[in-house]
Amino acid sequence: MSNINKTSVIVVGGSLVGLSTALFLSSWKVPVILLERHHSSSLHPRAIGYTTRTIECFRSLGIDSRLPVTQWKGGPPRRITIESLAGKWQDEKLWTPKAAGPPEDKKAGRPKGPEEFSPVAGIATAQDKIEPVLRECAIEQGADLRLGYTVASWSQNEQGVTVAAMDRDGVEIVVEGKYIVACDGARSPIREKLGIQRDGVGHLKALRSILFRCPQIDHYLNKGFVQFQIEGREDGFEAFMTTYGEGRWALMWNPVDKLEATKDAIDEATQKDMIRKAVGEEIPDNGIDLITTGEWELSGLVADKFSSGRVFLAGDAAHALPPNRGGYGANTGIADAHNISWKLAAVLNGTSRPELLATYDAERRSAAMVRHDQIFTREDYGRHVAGLEWAGKNAKILDDVAMELGQIYRSGAVIGADESLPLAKRPDEWNGQPGTRAPHVPLRRGGEAISSLDLFCHGWVLVSKDGTWRVTAQQASGTTGTEVAFVQVGGEVEETEGSNIGESFGIGETGAVLVRPDGYVAWRSLTKPVDAVASLGSALGQVSYAVKNST
Ligand SMILES: Cc1cc2nc3c(=O)[nH]c(=O)nc-3n(C[C@H](O)[C@H](O)[C@H](O)COP(=O)(O)OP(=O)(O)OC[C@H]3O[C@@H](n4cnc5c(N)ncnc54)[C@H](O)[C@@H]3O)c2cc1C
Ligand SMILES: *[C@@H]1O[C@H](CO)[C@@H](O)[C@H](O)[C@H]1NC(C)=O
Ligand SMILES: *[C@@H]1O[C@H](CO)[C@@H](O)[C@H](O)[C@H]1NC(C)=O
Repeated sequence: MSNINKTSVIVVGGSLVGLSTALFLSSWKVPVILLERHHSSSLHPRAIGYTTRTIECFRSLGIDSRLPVTQWKGGPPRRITIESLAGKWQDEKLWTPKAAGPPEDKKAGRPKGPEEFSPVAGIATAQDKIEPVLRECAIEQGADLRLGYTVASWSQNEQGVTVAAMDRDGVEIVVEGKYIVACDGARSPIREKLGIQRDGVGHLKALRSILFRCPQIDHYLNKGFVQFQIEGREDGFEAFMTTYGEGRWALMWNPVDKLEATKDAIDEATQKDMIRKAVGEEIPDNGIDLITTGEWELSGLVADKFSSGRVFLAGDAAHALPPNRGGYGANTGIADAHNISWKLAAVLNGTSRPELLATYDAERRSAAMVRHDQIFTREDYGRHVAGLEWAGKNAKILDDVAMELGQIYRSGAVIGADESLPLAKRPDEWNGQPGTRAPHVPLRRGGEAISSLDLFCHGWVLVSKDGTWRVTAQQASGTTGTEVAFVQVGGEVEETEGSNIGESFGIGETGAVLVRPDGYVAWRSLTKPVDAVASLGSALGQVSYAVKNST
């Protein structure tokens, strides 16, 4: 006997990306049921680094302060090449080669980091520490999380989708909805069934890992290095050691080239010997507490399509990207979630036509492809693919901050992001071009210091210094059925000393900028056009794929 559940969106997979999708969708008041095979987070964390943009997305829901943060000793995390922890420490490995580094800030004498362009900073937190908070927040927003259910089959037709899932005792539930977001990981059975192929550098290598505690070696973290590349040894042993904080360490190595060979269990004595080898000192058996083991496949593969009918791929299901400095894996997936959520919300609540959903593929697939090419153009992974032919092979290295906060998007949901603009620039090199993230500008609201980012991500927003746009915005909302809020700078919010909306958004005293529900600039007008209602109405109708506009 099955019981039938009805909802709007069915999210398959409840790890970082599935949970984020459920969270963002429910914050738009979209009914959502999430199905996840496991009852809790994986014992072995993978991701640890969350970028500024990810935290901005969580801040828009007011939950950034609830995320646990791992504090490292001695400032930002650093990494180094070593023979072993107790042996010779060689060179510090920079995250990004100097040539691709940002221009030096003349006054401060150091490069500007992402924190200079945002009210928040990226954080480090093990995946199994952040997921419980996301679960809690998603439930608070109204998401229905069904943990312990494995999706066994699904189908779609013109009207909607149906998913059948089974719990451990073989009890089946059936969920009916309008759309599926597949966040079911790199091996995504949903993507496979859709027959969507992937493109990129392909499978690179398999890694095994051991997660453990060993208090005797914790002091090695005191110098501020948290990642250790073990190489250049006489015995040829190569490995990678890192910490997830709270005394948890992971030792990772590549046993062989074939993934199958990583499937054999390694006994505890062998695990401890591996750890001793990496540490390079005597550790008594009871000095090592083995937690679990893991195996990963490192690959660079981006799906050829991010959607098919009523099914959307997000996270690793859409793009397998190896861990790197930009944290492109999980962070790219969380941006997918943020992106698809407002679009599904707008179509489901009847203000936008379903064609808006096609912009998800246009925007997010190219974003993933640029990141794929950046990862493999950089030194860390470049050496693995030197002999391979792949489409993005000769890509130029882009600055880290530009990749994180300054990628441009081109699709029908943006007007005027023309092809001549580069793929990514640093936020201080953009100023409100359509297709870019609306910049952070310090403002005051009442007595309170806020960021311009606080105005966005709750719907469509028009910003101007010229108050006559208020009526224009109301009228355009009326003609398109897409509600757009108006914010007057010099009215409900004010510039602070040194901040300048006109400069940051590239608009004049009478100009205005239209920002999408995900905080991206959709359209702007440098001055107020004569027929402003028609201009704004037509722009808004186009970028929101307004239902009313098309009739
Ligand atoms: C060692 C390592 C370190 C990493 N570090 C970073 C980092 O620092 N920063 C970063 O951004 N990224 C990092 N990554 C990448 C990051 O971990 C992944 O990109 C991220 O976990 C992807 O999340 P996801 O939700 O898309 O997929 P997954 O985490 O793979 O989750 C898929 C989920 O779907 C569920 N599922 C699958 N099939 C079904 C089914 N049929 N029914 C029900 N449930 C199903 C699974 O149980 C699973 O929970 C790292 C990866 C590795 C291996
Ligand atoms: C979609 O939204 C996410 C989160 O704001 C953002 O990071 C992503 O780059 C956006 N992309 C586009 C094109 O909308
Ligand atoms: C519909 O959803 C969009 C999010 O994309 C939101 O901005 C808008 O306010 C919603 N409209 C209604 C009427 O709920």
